[in-house]
Amino acid sequence: MSGHDTPIPMQSARSGPLRGVAEVPGDKSISHRALILGALSIGETQITGLLEGQDVLDTAAAMRAFGATLTRHGPGEWSVQGVGVGGFAEPAQVIDCGNSGTGVRLIMGAMATSAISATFTGDASLNKRPMGRVTDPLALFGAQAYGRAGGRLPMTVVGAADPVPVRYTLPMPSAQVKSAILLAGLNAPGETVVIEPEATRDHTERMLRGFGAEIVVEDRPEGRVITLTGQPELLAQRVAVPRDPSSAAFPVCAALIVPGSEITVPGVSQNPTRNGLFTTLIEMGADLTFENPREEGGEPVADLRVRYSPGLKGVETPPARAASMIDEFPILSVVAAAAEGRTVMNGVRELRVKESDRIDAMARGLEACGVRVEETEDTLIVHGCGAGGVPGGALTESRLDHRIAMSFLCLGLVAQKPVRVDDAGPIATSFPVFEPLMAGLGASITRSNA
Ligand code: S3P
Repeated sequence: MSGHDTPIPMQSARSGPLRGVAEVPGDKSISHRALILGALSIGETQITGLLEGQDVLDTAAAMRAFGATLTRHGPGEWSVQGVGVGGFAEPAQVIDCGNSGTGVRLIMGAMATSAISATFTGDASLNKRPMGRVTDPLALFGAQAYGRAGGRLPMTVVGAADPVPVRYTLPMPSAQVKSAILLAGLNAPGETVVIEPEATRDHTERMLRGFGAEIVVEDRPEGRVITLTGQPELLAQRVAVPRDPSSAAFPVCAALIVPGSEITVPGVSQNPTRNGLFTTLIEMGADLTFENPREEGGEPVADLRVRYSPGLKGVETPPARAASMIDEFPILSVVAAAAEGRTVMNGVRELRVKESDRIDAMARGLEACGVRVEETEDTLIVHGCGAGGVPGGALTESRLDHRIAMSFLCLGLVAQKPVRVDDAGPIATSFPVFEPLMAGLGASITRSNA
């Protein structure tokens, strides 16, 4: 689906304590991968806890177009009858990945080493995002890509009929690029090697191993060296998708700054490639406790208890932590605005090529709400309003970006005057139950007339 038709303006206002249990939906990254790996396997993969956000539904539609059979059995319960590695059929229609960079980049990788072509498009946000970071390494396998200027969608990828394996060092920390290469490597003979100087989320590696691929990960001086042996037979699995820590971040951060709050978020990932936000919040003085640690769907998880934490202090986040909290900087900048002192977010240039330029989107919206912000190409600095409080009272732009919309709605919960968001529609891409979940905790988030 390329975008939603009518903007959905919303606003949030200063709220009483947030209380209760926040059962956030399934992990978006793992949901995309479960559908794609299921489609590349032999047999029937059974998935529970699948995120039914628009991004993942678009990937499901794409997997059908490439020949897999997908059936929805109930909320979050899906099965995928796969076609096996190298078994993708050529789609008859254009593949519309909507708002999802993960969807389009992973699917391009998965089809790039088969003798088929596919044309990809997306919404106005996705069609602005760079695809060269994926099509450059895919060209090394022998695939060709024809897109718009600057490597933008719409784009046709002609898969390699005779792929060769690849050795590639990631020029930027990107799990999407890493995953595209590994998925392409599945149908290339021999060993495909990806070297990542900075570790990024490792769900593809974990899940490939779970589906039966031979994959070795070594920590070497040059970084994480991932070696995949090509042309395995992937076997259908049962996948229990754990809850999304990037969605959990919104109720967690809101509860930290709304006075009197106390909430529990069950089953939050403790995967070290995803938990940089929690490390940062604890450094700021957040009252977070992790209870009942266990494993769910191959991922370490715990129940997170969050209590209102007065007197949060600004901190400096190191560049080396950026990848492990890359989607959480917008909501961290909201906590930073409510905290005391300066929060300096370093090494965040990748935020400029997300669903929106997230540094610019947060800086402009925070400034409109009376918060002092500084930015460089690679840094975002937020000056906390502390005891004086965040003024608020502005109309902010979500720019087709779900996390920007949710961040400003959380800001309004502590601001002196309500904060409006011009279009909260994009929230449906990743967190379709955000509105009722937050209302159930006691947050005043309502539809407005822009
Ligand atoms: C994702 C990787 C990250 C992240 C995105 C999901 C993934 O993007 O921002 O929301 O599932 O692999 P990059 O790989 O571009 O950093």
